[in-house]
Amino acid sequence: MIKGTFPIEKFRELETPFYYYDTKVLRDTLETIKKEAGKYENYHVHYAVKANANPKVLGIIRESGLGADCVSGGEVRAAVEAGFPNDKIVYAGVGKTDKEINYSLDHDIFCFNVESVPELEVINELAEAKGKVAKVAFRINPNVGAHTHANITTGLAENKFGISMEDMDTVIEMAQQMNNVKFIGLHFHIGSQILEMDDFVALCNRVNELQEKLAKHHIICEHINVGGGLGIDYGHPNHLPIPNFADYFATYHKFLHLQPGQQLHFELGRAVVGQCGSLISKVTYVKQGTNKQFAILDAGMTDLIRPALYQAYHRIENITSDEAEETYDVVGPICESSDVFQKAVDLNKAHRGDLFALRSAGAYGEIMASRYNCRELPKGYTSDELV
Ligand code: LLP
Repeated sequence: MIKGTFPIEKFRELETPFYYYDTKVLRDTLETIKKEAGKYENYHVHYAVKANANPKVLGIIRESGLGADCVSGGEVRAAVEAGFPNDKIVYAGVGKTDKEINYSLDHDIFCFNVESVPELEVINELAEAKGKVAKVAFRINPNVGAHTHANITTGLAENKFGISMEDMDTVIEMAQQMNNVKFIGLHFHIGSQILEMDDFVALCNRVNELQEKLAKHHIICEHINVGGGLGIDYGHPNHLPIPNFADYFATYHKFLHLQPGQQLHFELGRAVVGQCGSLISKVTYVKQGTNKQFAILDAGMTDLIRPALYQAYHRIENITSDEAEETYDVVGPICESSDVFQKAVDLNKAHRGDLFALRSAGAYGEIMASRYNCRELPKGYTSDELV
C-alpha cells in the first residue's frame, strides 16, 4: 500500500494522539487556489475557519492572502487574532448573539451574512448604538440540493439556514430603509463535500435567476458570495492531495453571470485544509475477537468524530509496519459502540505501539474534538515544527 511520508522518528517523541499538518501540502494547495482564482477578475476566496482554527494553520492561510469566513464570534476572534484584515472577514450564522454582533461591529468586519429579519433588526440597532453602519448581505436559501451526506446539505428549503427566495425582495427593501445597515449583496451555501460540478451549476442558475428578478426592481448587488463546499478525495490523499480548483472556478466562470464590477466571493474550508492533516494515533492493543481482530487505538471519536457522526471514510495507514497485510476493525477507546474508525480494513500487520495515520483529517478534525470521557484534547503540530 502506498503511504504518506511522515517524520516517524519525531512522531515517536510525541504524546499521541495528535494532529499533524503537512505545510507543504497546505502551501501548495493555497498556491493552486491563488493561481486558479486569480485567472478571473473579481474573485475573492475566504477560508472557512470552521474547518480548522489551529493558530499555526490559520497563520499560514492568512499569509497566503485569503480572507476569513466565520460562523461565530469565537471564529471572528480567531481570525482577528490570526491577523486576517478586518475588511476580509465575513460572518454568517443563524443565531448571532448581541455579544457576537458587537464584537464584530467593534472590529468593522467586511460583512454580516444575515439569515433572518429579526437578526437584521438587531444588527441595525446595535450598529446604531455604536454610531456605525454595518455592511450586510442576505443569505438566501436557494432550495438547491447537493449530492452529499444529508447532515451536511444546507441549501434546501427544509434546512434552517438563510432567508427564503420569496422573501428576498422584502428584506432587501427593509434593509434599504434602515439607517445603520448597508445592503451589499447576496450569500449562498448549498452544502459540503460536493464533488459534482453540476451541483454548483444548479446554484449558478439559481443565482442568475434571482439576479434577474432583482434587476427588474433596479436592485444591484455589489457582492455575490457562493459559499464553499468543494470536496476532497478521501480515497486518494497520496495521489490527489490538491482538489480540482481549476474546474471549480471555471464552473462558476462559465455559468454564473456576473454584472460589470460585481465581486464574487467563495468560502472554502475542507478543500483548503482537508488533505494536509492526519490524525496520528498509537495502537494500544491488538485484540482477537470471535471472527475478527481489533486494532484498538489511543485516538477515538473524541479526536475525530466524522466516522461516527457521518459514517465518513478516512483512509488508515499503519505507518510503522511493512509486514504482510491483515484485516482489522480499527476502533477507539471511547465507551460508545459508534467509536469505530473503520471496519474490516486491510493494514500492514499491527502490533502494540505501532503508529497509525488517519488521513485527510485536516478539515473538521481537530476543531470538532471534544473532551467526552474526560479526555484531553489532541494537540496539533505542523511539519515546520518537526524538522
Ligand atoms: N460557508 C458556510 C456558510 C458554511 O456553512 C460552510 C460549512 C462553509 C462555508 C465551508 O464549507 P466547506 O468548503 O468546508 O465544505 N462538519 C462537517 C462539515 C460541515 C460544514 C458546515 N458548513 C464535516 O465534517 O463534513
